[in-house]
Amino acid sequence: MPSIGATVRRLFGPLEPTVSEFYRGLFVDLDEFARAIKSWVPDAHRILEVGCGEGAMTERLVLHYPEAEILGIDISPRLGRLYRGPRRLVKFQQRTVDDIVGEAPQHFDLVVLADVMHHVQPEIRPEFFQSVEAALLPGGHLVFKDWERSISPQHAICFFMERYITGDTVQYCDLSELKSFSHLALANDRRIGPWRNNLALHYRAP
Ligand SMILES: C[S@@+](CC[C@H](N)C(=O)[O-])C[C@H]1O[C@@H](n2cnc3c(N)ncnc32)[C@H](O)[C@@H]1O
Repeated sequence: MPSIGATVRRLFGPLEPTVSEFYRGLFVDLDEFARAIKSWVPDAHRILEVGCGEGAMTERLVLHYPEAEILGIDISPRLGRLYRGPRRLVKFQQRTVDDIVGEAPQHFDLVVLADVMHHVQPEIRPEFFQSVEAALLPGGHLVFKDWERSISPQHAICFFMERYITGDTVQYCDLSELKSFSHLALANDRRIGPWRNNLALHYRAP
């Protein structure tokens, strides 16, 4: 799922956050995704956002869960750079999910991933997802959204933008791959606008 490449974005100067939001909105309605999470998980106290990037989804999470402690992690050094929400209970750390789980396993009642899996190399996805699940408290919720590969004009545009504008190497998953990552019980699934390619899945830990 493309966000505009760093070099291109720098050209926009102070307008960068607005332009980034607009561009992302062409592919996914993050507000709708956040509302879906809230409807599935009305209450959460400790939230982990894995692959939080520059903070676009974190901003939505804090709106819906203003009293929750939110930790955003990413392997990129630019994490949280465009986040404009309150800072009181929100932290950004450049760490891996393995680090987090090694330090405090089963610590979070909600774990969220937005458009991360297609950035993770296919050969490490199962192991990566196991670590994500190990962060959940018993009874905790895991919600992830990704862009499903399809034969469609919007997928061709999305792939082109990611490859040539953002410059990221990505490998999108098909529906069966997206549904194969978690071994937890599926509680809900939903398509998120503006394209059917956006699939959100909600799992519940035992
Ligand atoms: C398309 S961005 C999405 C950012 C954010 N979730 C959002 O919706 O705005 C994908 C992010 O996944 C991160 N990522 C890729 N592999 C990762 C990994 N193994 N652990 C944590 N983050 C990762 C990338 O650095 C990037 O910031």
